[in-house]
Amino acid sequence: AKSLKTFQGIRFEKCLDNGEAAEQMNKWLLEVSWEVANKVGGIYTVIRSKVPITKKEYGNNYICLGPYNDSFVKTEVEISEPKTDALREAVNDMRRNGVNVVTGNWLIEGFPQVVLFDLSSAANRLDGWKGDFFEHAHIGIPYFDRESNDALLFGFCVFWFIGIFLEHVKRIQKCYVIAHFHEWLAGVGLIMTRLRGYDCGLIFTTHATLLGRYLCAGSTDFYNNLSFFNLDKEAGDRQIYHRYCIERAAASCAHVFTTVSKITGIESEFLLNKKPDILTPNGLNVQTFAALHEFQNLHAQNKEKLNAFVRGHFYGHYDFDLDKTLYFFIAGRYEFSNKGADMFIESLARLNHMLKSSGSDVTIVAFMIFPTPTNNFNIESLRGQSVAKMLRDTVHNVQSDIGKRLYEICLKGHLPKAEQILYSSDLIELKKCIYASQRSSLPPICTHNVCDDVNDPILNALRRCQLFNARTDRVKVIFHPEFLRSTSPLLPLEYEEFVRGCHLGVFPSYYEPWGYTPAECTVMGVPNISTNLSGFGCFMEEHVHEPETYGIYVIDRRYKSAEESCQQLARYMFDFSLLTRRQRIILRNRTERLSELLDWNTLGIYYYRARQMVLQRTHPEFEEEQLKFTTQTFSAPSTPGVSRSSTPAPPEHDDGSDDEEELENFPHQKIHLDEKTPPPPPDTDEDEKPHLERADSVRLLPHRKD
Ligand code: UDP
Ligand code: G6P
Ligand code: GLC
Repeated sequence: AKSLKTFQGIRFEKCLDNGEAAEQMNKWLLEVSWEVANKVGGIYTVIRSKVPITKKEYGNNYICLGPYNDSFVKTEVEISEPKTDALREAVNDMRRNGVNVVTGNWLIEGFPQVVLFDLSSAANRLDGWKGDFFEHAHIGIPYFDRESNDALLFGFCVFWFIGIFLEHVKRIQKCYVIAHFHEWLAGVGLIMTRLRGYDCGLIFTTHATLLGRYLCAGSTDFYNNLSFFNLDKEAGDRQIYHRYCIERAAASCAHVFTTVSKITGIESEFLLNKKPDILTPNGLNVQTFAALHEFQNLHAQNKEKLNAFVRGHFYGHYDFDLDKTLYFFIAGRYEFSNKGADMFIESLARLNHMLKSSGSDVTIVAFMIFPTPTNNFNIESLRGQSVAKMLRDTVHNVQSDIGKRLYEICLKGHLPKAEQILYSSDLIELKKCIYASQRSSLPPICTHNVCDDVNDPILNALRRCQLFNARTDRVKVIFHPEFLRSTSPLLPLEYEEFVRGCHLGVFPSYYEPWGYTPAECTVMGVPNISTNLSGFGCFMEEHVHEPETYGIYVIDRRYKSAEESCQQLARYMFDFSLLTRRQRIILRNRTERLSELLDWNTLGIYYYRARQMVLQRTHPEFEEEQLKFTTQTFSAPSTPGVSRSSTPAPPEHDDGSDDEEELENFPHQKIHLDEKTPPPPPDTDEDEKPHLERADSVRLLPHRKD
């Protein structure tokens, strides 16, 4: 039986709030992160995708605080003066004192208010603030660590802002202010706010631990040694002792501490000496299409764009059938071993061998998208695209001339002879193009000139595994050392379009607190591979029965050796290459069906609970107070039959509050995770797309148990 273990049917939806209750209660939420309107990695995706659901609850009482980054602000923020008094007072106070604060609205769905601190304008205060921080928190920041200096400036700006903001906001009536800080880079603000005893509920969410990231990036057997590390020494050896102190102090100063997954929760327990109070798994703002299977059409459209690129890239070596070509990819910040790029390349080499020796006619093109410094695109890659374009244009011209000639001749009542429609001059033009597409070198394995080519870990791994795009190779590789953008002259696609065009996302991470990349694949209906060392992989294993039947493959990197995991990955990829088109289409449908599980409408409840928890801890009277406003605001009748929702938080940290009541108050809950849910048969509506043939008894993965 293929089924969802904990996936329950649709529940009630109450989106009536729109922040009215928050405004009436004078309840505010400040979201503080280095990645507000400033894209670095997954935290940006957390904040950005969560905005619509958070705004439904807090309305205009939701404000995002971040650092001012000119290049992002230009494209992502509509600058305007603050409209609320407290906000204006706080911003003006800072401006009067020489700190440049930019305010406005973030140009994303939900259009939230943002307050961005220009850290360079506060740089003259660095030494003074360092002294204050040392005096209060006993943490010294060395002068040479630029990132920590920025974290300090950012933290003190936030702390300053919160101080003035609180002063003004409480003048009107009793207020409930929550400040939710993300990751150690935002930690200083939290620590100072707590140490100065401000009346502000503080939540700290960590999306990774510093030591975890550093230790995993080395050759440490991390998960088997969690309890044995000498933390101070490990941090000191890596010159991150002060950062580690900020992180640990933030976790301990917070009224509520959360992590994004169980696995990071366990890590925090050992490395930060603090168990999370609640887990807050990451959701996505799932796009719902008006037409069924529109995402399948999007796959076909975007795959065509990838086909166009591949034709150019492999010019002169384009001897494989695009109809039998599959696009696999890995993408993320360039953390070679943490993100599992090492295992991906190793497994691709094995896959290459398996495909060759089984006589497969399938070609795999494996993309690796990891930004690293480059000196721009390389000539060979650009040349490939222009050669293909030249041929395409020439064919287009010849084709149009042939059409005209054909028409003229037929009009005169004759059937044309071959030489009357295809002239020798056309043949010459075509020959010129064909000659131009000859090449003496192999198609490049990288699209750019990587600055540190000699030491680059991906290039070296490809060299070691001899993945050079030879004609005989069934696995071709393309390293694109830059994030994707639609303005690229080479591969003009946004990341989302690229993902949709691919067949399989492969993310064999060793260190991955959550891992948005496979989650994004899932909601776009793209089957994907992750690991049981990633928050996402564990979450899917926990909540989805037999996830591989939904195109969610989870490699065991926890209990297996690297060699065994590699084999498992190669086998999954090989098995995927055996699927027919029809099976792939069905599999994509199944994958996409899991979207609701990853929607903020489902997972937002955990953030909501964290906020309830912080207010219960800081203002015990809050619940009673809220009830007055809740009865006024949430007056819509709820659907009966609400069963207890399961929380991924460790039970001993459940504060015992009534889940059902919480669910009632949570305004957007559509589905919820419930262990008691009987598994629905997912195969029944297998193939709702009218033009597709129905799946008879297709076995999606020709599994071979190793
Ligand atoms: N991403 C992107 N462009 C790319 C590759 C990745 O915008 O070419 C984004 C991706 O959409 C995801 C984020 O980078 O939201 C990576 O987040 P993840 O949680 O997987 O890893 P992190 O970088 O936070 O460790
Ligand atoms: C989508 C489209 C189909 C197309 C298919 C290709 O499902 O709606 O028209 O045939 O993609 O799938 P493939 O896995 O071969 O890229
Ligand atoms: C971190 C983690 C990543 C997670 C992201 C958002 O950057 O590396 O696994 O998905 O934060 O929580």
